[in-house]
Formats: sequence, C-alpha cells, structure tokens
Amino acid sequence: MTDAPAKQKKPDSCSFVIFGVTGDLAHRLVFPALYNLAATSLLPDNFCIVGIARQGMTGDALRDSLMKGLREFATRPVDDSIASRLLECVSCFEADPKDPASFDQMKAQLEKLEAARNTGGNRLFYLATPPGAFPTISRQLGRTGLLKEEDNAWRRLVVEKPFGTDLASARTLNGELLKILDEHQIYRIDHYLGKETVQNILVLRFANGMFEPIWNRNHIDHIQITVDEKLGVGHRGSFYDVTGALRDMVPNHLFQLLSLVAMEPPARFDAHAVRSEKAEVLAAIQTQSEADALKNSVRGQYRGGKVGDTEIADYRKTEDVKPDSTTETYAALKLTIDNWRWAGVPFYLRTGKALGIKRTEVAIKFKQAPFAMFRDTPVDRLSQNYLVISIEPTEGITLQFNTKVPGPSINIDGVEMKFRYKDYFKAAPATGYETLIYDCMIGDNILFQRADSVEAGWQAVQPFLDAWKQAGDRDLETYQAGSEGPAQADELLKRDGRSWRKLG
Ligand code: BG6
Repeated sequence: MTDAPAKQKKPDSCSFVIFGVTGDLAHRLVFPALYNLAATSLLPDNFCIVGIARQGMTGDALRDSLMKGLREFATRPVDDSIASRLLECVSCFEADPKDPASFDQMKAQLEKLEAARNTGGNRLFYLATPPGAFPTISRQLGRTGLLKEEDNAWRRLVVEKPFGTDLASARTLNGELLKILDEHQIYRIDHYLGKETVQNILVLRFANGMFEPIWNRNHIDHIQITVDEKLGVGHRGSFYDVTGALRDMVPNHLFQLLSLVAMEPPARFDAHAVRSEKAEVLAAIQTQSEADALKNSVRGQYRGGKVGDTEIADYRKTEDVKPDSTTETYAALKLTIDNWRWAGVPFYLRTGKALGIKRTEVAIKFKQAPFAMFRDTPVDRLSQNYLVISIEPTEGITLQFNTKVPGPSINIDGVEMKFRYKDYFKAAPATGYETLIYDCMIGDNILFQRADSVEAGWQAVQPFLDAWKQAGDRDLETYQAGSEGPAQADELLKRDGRSWRKLG
C-alpha cells in the first residue's frame, strides 16, 4: 500500500478572491477544498481569502457561514485550530457589477489588505457565481486594472461551468474574456478533471507500454461513456429546465472523458501539449447534420418513481420546472471521430438523472477474437473483452476476459481482473477541487479547459441542440425514475449489433 503523495511545493503568496461567496459552490466545495489544502500545508505562507458579497454581509457573518458549511461538507474531520487559522485569513468586501464605483472601492480595500498580508500582489479571482455574471464581473475587474499582470505579480481568473449555453455564446464569452486577459490567465474549470481516476486515464494510456499499441480502430470495437446519476433535479429546477442533460454534462464532463480516452499521445506532459491534443480530438468529432443528430441520439425525461427508497417526483412537477417542459433529463448519443485512429469506431455516450444507479465509467470494448477454434462454445457464452475505467462510485479498472473452466473438457467462461484504488492507496477523501485550486495557485493550467476545446465541444453538440429544439416534444421519450433510462437508448446500440453494459 502506498502512502501520502510525493512532497509538493507551496504556492506563491497570493490573495484568493471569491465572487459568489455566499452561494452553494463556495460553501460546499471551494471552502472545504481550501481547508483540505490548509490541513496538508499546501496553502501559501502569505495568504488571504476575500469573499465578495453584493451587499450587507459582514466579515463575521461570512466566517460563521463558511464554518457552518465546512462542518457540513468537510471530507475529513475538522480540526478547529486549522479551521480557525484559515478563517483568520477571510475578509468580506462588497462589490456589485451594476455599480462600477463599488469595484473601485473594493480595489482600494484589496490593495490595502494585500500590503498588510504581504501577498506580493498575486491574485486569483474565482467566479463561483451564476454564469450570467461572468462577463460583467470580468469587465469590471478589467476596467479597474485588477487583472493586469505587472510588477512581477500574476493575476488569474477562474471561471466555473457552464461556459456558455451553446457554440455562439461560448464564443462570445471567450471573446469577452480574451479582450481583458491573456489565455494563460484564464482557468476554465471542469471539476471532472479534479478527479484522480479521470487524471489516471492519461497515466494508464501513456505510462504503460501495453495499452497504446491496441488503442485504435484495429482492436477496439467501440467505446461507451456513461455518467448515470440517482439524484433527480431537486431544487435546481430553474437552472436545469433551461439547461437539460446535454448542456449540463456532455460538452464538459463527458467530453473530458472522451478527449482523454481518444487523444493522441502528447509530445510532452505540459499544459500546451496536452491541451492541444485534447482540443484536436474534440475538433475531430464529426459534426452531424440535424437529421443525423436526430437519428444518432435519444433524449428522455423522467416520470415519478422510486430510486432505492427515495420517491422522486415527476420531472414536470419539480419546483421551477415548466409543467409542459420538453427539457431532457437523459441523453444518449452516438458520435464518431474523424481521424485515422478512430475511423469507424463509434463512441456511445449516455447520461441521465433519477436512474437506478450512480455510475461513471468509460468502457472500452475490444473486438471479438475469431472463435473458429472454439466452435462448440456459443458466442453468447464468451465474455466480451471490456476494459472498464470506473470513476464513480468505485474507483478502479477492470479487465474482462475469457478463461477455461477447470475440468476435463474445454469450457469457457468470462472472468474479471480488478484493480481498486482503495486497495493500493490510502488517499484522504477530498472534494476534487483541491488539485484544481492548488494548480491555479502554482500556475499550472494543464487541468483546465482552453478556449479552443470549449468551442470544439460546443461545436460537436450544437447539431443535437438544434435538432432537439426543432423537434420539440416529438421523440422526447420518458422513463421511470429508478429505471435504466428510456428503452429507446438500447435501440441506438442494438441497430449496430451492440448493447450497453448493464447497470450494477
Ligand atoms: C455538475 C452538474 O456539473 O456535475 C450536475 O451541473 C451533476 O447536474 C454534477 O450532478 C455531476 O458531478 P459528479 O462529480 O457528481 O459526477
């Protein structure tokens, strides 16, 4: 069993300025991740956290509220002395994007605090706000000069998802940000890249000699990427009903998985090389016509049902959801990648809410062996050769293959070889944001999305968005909460002579 990770360097002194500090994300993930970094001595020596509230919040009220959040969402037992040292770093300033003067005042306050805390002027602005606020906040930060890199101080902007709602809006947002900042200052977060198992896809492929030679159309039949969730939409109706499963999950989280699995080997393990290869493969996803997009997709909406013991209400009866909503809560797509490695290898993607199981995995299905030798074994008795990268809830890798059943005659059965992270490594549970925040502070943007990949992702899903909008509720399937999703998703593979890996 391997213990703690290799020793990491401490980031430069800096201030960490959070917009949207009163919100769920800041309380549930960002602050608990900062706590975990503090607990492992990975915060800068000179550090301050500034929460920006629109109005009426005192420093004490913010500290109380963050502490309450930490008690609820911490991933490890909270040590009060570490927590209070972290809270001592927290201040609260006011700034409202609708009131430019408030940004000027905030700048003056921040500069004073930075001088007192000796942070060297390095700043990280974290936009944990609803996406509508990204452009206005960035504009004000740009106007006041708060983002200008000068006097050897770095200035960085972290932008949460969703980055745009379609190709046009993502391009506009990139254009806005790039007027104010250089690409190297922008950190577009996708929390999937904070997951160890997701980062491990790169290591599995490129730090082992045996996978890469067979990682192509000659040996791989197809690839399935699944992100199934048990939770319904809950209280997020107003966000979700204008977003839907496709926008919420595919151009970001599922495409992170797809790009890591499908990219070419980068020449170096650095941000430029890795991000270029990821962008390249996303740009190679075939852009489908609207007619093909309809043929190659299934969307569904859940109806009431039970997930385990929990009753989930009909999606259309969810708070803040339109009673005649046509928003999909499930999406399945068939994509192809137009390059030599992947020509003719379908990528099937599926994701949904209120399903019977929580599971995130990438399953690589290898081509069947020619079984002339084992003529007496019915094909369906042979196990399918899958390499399954399990991301959640199990973290590990499984290889399925055929083996001889002990006995005098040759009988064949499928078996599994399993690697589980927890059997080998003792990692403390984490939010997944620790690595991402730490990387922002050390200036490593390898795990962040570059403008070109974000746009390539939207480009690939745009025909589906357009086709579904056109179709309205035509072809909108339904499925019962707690099920495996709409039956039509099975047809998508069945017509190619394939099937999804079963749930559970
Ligand atoms: C978020 C989506 O980005 O990712 C949510 O907005 C989704 O709808 C979540 O539930 C899934 O993340 P994870 O880490 O639980 O797979």
